[in-house]
Amino acid sequence: MKYNIIVTTASGIEAVTKNELKALGIGETSAINGKITFLGTLEDAARCNMYLRTADKVLLELSKFTAKSFDELFDNTSAIPWEHFLATDGQFIINGKSAKSGLFALSACQKIIKKAVIERLKGHTKKTVFPENGNGYLIDFNIFEDSVTLSLNTSGDGLHKRGYRDLSGQAPLRETLAAAILMLSGWQWERPLIDPFCGSGTFPIEAALMSRNIAPGTYRAFALENYCFFDKAVMDGVRQEAIGGITERELRISGFDIDKRAIALSLYHAEKAGVSANIHFQTQDVAKLSSRYSGGTLVCNPPYGERLMDEKSVAVLYATLGEVYKKLDNWRLLALTSAANFERSFGARADKTRKLYNATKECRLYYYFGG
Ligand SMILES: C[S@@+](CC[C@H](N)C(=O)[O-])C[C@H]1O[C@@H](n2cnc3c(N)ncnc32)[C@H](O)[C@@H]1O
Repeated sequence: MKYNIIVTTASGIEAVTKNELKALGIGETSAINGKITFLGTLEDAARCNMYLRTADKVLLELSKFTAKSFDELFDNTSAIPWEHFLATDGQFIINGKSAKSGLFALSACQKIIKKAVIERLKGHTKKTVFPENGNGYLIDFNIFEDSVTLSLNTSGDGLHKRGYRDLSGQAPLRETLAAAILMLSGWQWERPLIDPFCGSGTFPIEAALMSRNIAPGTYRAFALENYCFFDKAVMDGVRQEAIGGITERELRISGFDIDKRAIALSLYHAEKAGVSANIHFQTQDVAKLSSRYSGGTLVCNPPYGERLMDEKSVAVLYATLGEVYKKLDNWRLLALTSAANFERSFGARADKTRKLYNATKECRLYYYFGG
């Protein structure tokens, strides 16, 4: 059986996620506003959860309809064969969003959807009481311009939660965005990579995971595994296949930070991710940065001058980055920041820039080709 599978991703990186899907053998996709849709099986959904490094969630679309009133929302929701998708002891957890629509009160929409689900189950199962003490079923609604999409969230927690980062440093970058920037950088594992402002270690750890072919979902669970209509053995098979694909590699990945607590955190996370042997972490001011290698990549998310530092200090820091970068031999640089004056302070115009969102914060990725 095939479903409409929706892969959600951050706005601005749809093309990167589409490429990842292509590498999984899923070429026929359509993308719009951070949502990539394709026709696939439950095994495809399991594989997307396990392997996609840049996606947020994988949803199974159950119905799409127009609703301008609560009655329409109720009727269309109760027309879905929920008895096939939900266990009668399940906890039905309903979450969603609405924009530019008549139905905008989220808690009222949640209540109506829940009522419609329960009514449907009452009519199509022998049960009249639903204790909701079993596995969680995550029902997702998305209402845009009165068009409602109802789906089951097969991921559970967002896919940026790989399971290795349980303590957060100062302004950590989302793992999914870090992976997308690494993919955009064109960096290959044979070449050196440095993050001079590594914070909790996200870029170096994501780079090591990618290089060693460690699937981002290897050590976490997914909501799909608890759904009654899904054969858990399928996910076990996908996980075993992922573990079988892990490779050992000699890597030249380093992470530096001026704050020794950040370095301790990075080491702890790298240990949890199983890549501590692949990364050199060290407390160091960016002013001291140098490398004996040529042709590497510097990738970073320096302080923005909002939460972490005042604007003047940030400008000085960017100027220092510009100075040390000039001395490196044929390296490229990718820097993600929301500071408008980055290029001026850094001392050179970027070869390319790209608008990206770090969670909800609008940022720009500055790309210097080097050489
Ligand atoms: C926005 S955070 C980086 C977050 C990181 N990408 C992560 O995912 O956790 C910026 C980092 O720059 C570090 N930093 C500030 N000034 C520095 C300097 N002069 N040299 C090196 N690191 C510095 C801070 O300690 C902080 O950890």
